[in-house]
Amino acid sequence: MRTTAIRIHRHGGPEAMRLDQVELPDPGPQEALVRNTAIGVNYADIYEREGDHGGPHTAKPLPLTLGHMAAGVVEAPGEGAGGPPVGTRVGYIGGGSYAGHTLVPASRLIPLPDAIPDEVVGGYLLRGLTAEYLLRRLFPVKAGTVALVHAAAGGMGLVLGQWGAALGARMIGTVGSPAKAEIARAHGYDAVVDYGTEDFAERVMELTDGRGADVIYDGIGKAAFLKSLDCIRPRGMVVSYGTASGNVGEFDLQRLHSKSIVVTRPTLRSWIADPQEAEAAARALFEALESGLIRTPIADRLPLARAAEAHRLLEGRALTAPVVLVP
Ligand SMILES: NC(=O)c1ccc[n+]([C@@H]2O[C@H](COP(=O)([O-])OP(=O)(O)OC[C@H]3O[C@@H](n4cnc5c(N)ncnc54)[C@H](OP(=O)(O)O)[C@@H]3O)[C@@H](O)[C@H]2O)c1
Repeated sequence: MRTTAIRIHRHGGPEAMRLDQVELPDPGPQEALVRNTAIGVNYADIYEREGDHGGPHTAKPLPLTLGHMAAGVVEAPGEGAGGPPVGTRVGYIGGGSYAGHTLVPASRLIPLPDAIPDEVVGGYLLRGLTAEYLLRRLFPVKAGTVALVHAAAGGMGLVLGQWGAALGARMIGTVGSPAKAEIARAHGYDAVVDYGTEDFAERVMELTDGRGADVIYDGIGKAAFLKSLDCIRPRGMVVSYGTASGNVGEFDLQRLHSKSIVVTRPTLRSWIADPQEAEAAARALFEALESGLIRTPIADRLPLARAAEAHRLLEGRALTAPVVLVP
């Protein structure tokens, strides 16, 4: 069948994105054809568009249909694929989602509860599953934990703030403007530091009476990582989970020595690779969404053809909630 897709034929800025007609083969034995209804725009899509960021974001062969996740409806399961039947509403984490239709491994399809709208899945499935492993499994936060989150008013920041606070942690956020500070405060953060005007490490040390945060969730990378080492407590964990400002690059391991700091650079893929773990993570996220524990604002719904605009908004630090693309 033919479908519309946002593809790149070379790596580069948003101008490299093109609306193409592409031919999809019939689903293979382990696949299903999904009609996408709400497509997520995540930082991973920007890394994919730009080229080689290393690790799970190593450049893929071109031309390439962009995207890492969507909500949709199963239109055709592959022969013997198992998985949910035709007509099931599903979400998935998987490549090539910037399209009208996508072939998805049947094992990766996540049936959706009726109560969770497609656009919430588009905006929050990838971010919510990430917050699930960051807060509940990688560094389980609990009552009394002090957690620092960079870019607290961004898509990931909104989920981490609310979920972390619900787990009992004291959430401290950093943001790039006073308007974003207000948004962070309304989404779980007890204290917010504007790193445009304040030294965030000094401020976090003040806020924690000189102790430092127990855990730091850093999705910014280059601009925030080294300074984060100055406000983590002894034996605390700095989780470098994203690189919105650029890769951290090489650094002196001795920087960790005097406080026995633990540093990790995780990817969602490792934390949902096991289907049972993925199912449990999705269940926890859906419960948090259905119970209203996490509110899920959506900044905008844009037609798929305007995907480049969505990228400009995200990388231009203009968003304080996710944007979704509608084919
Ligand atoms: N490892 C994983 O498993 C995983 C999974 C999902 C997402 N992530 C990571 O999570 C991070 C957040 O993703 P998101 O899609 O929700 O984005 P987002 O947080 O909505 O947007 C990124 C934010 O980073 C801040 N920022 C600081 N310096 C920046 C710069 N030089 N350029 C752009 N932004 C800058 C901006 O907030 P301020 O203006 O407030 O500074 C911006 O709004 C990304 O790094 C992504 O790679 C990782």
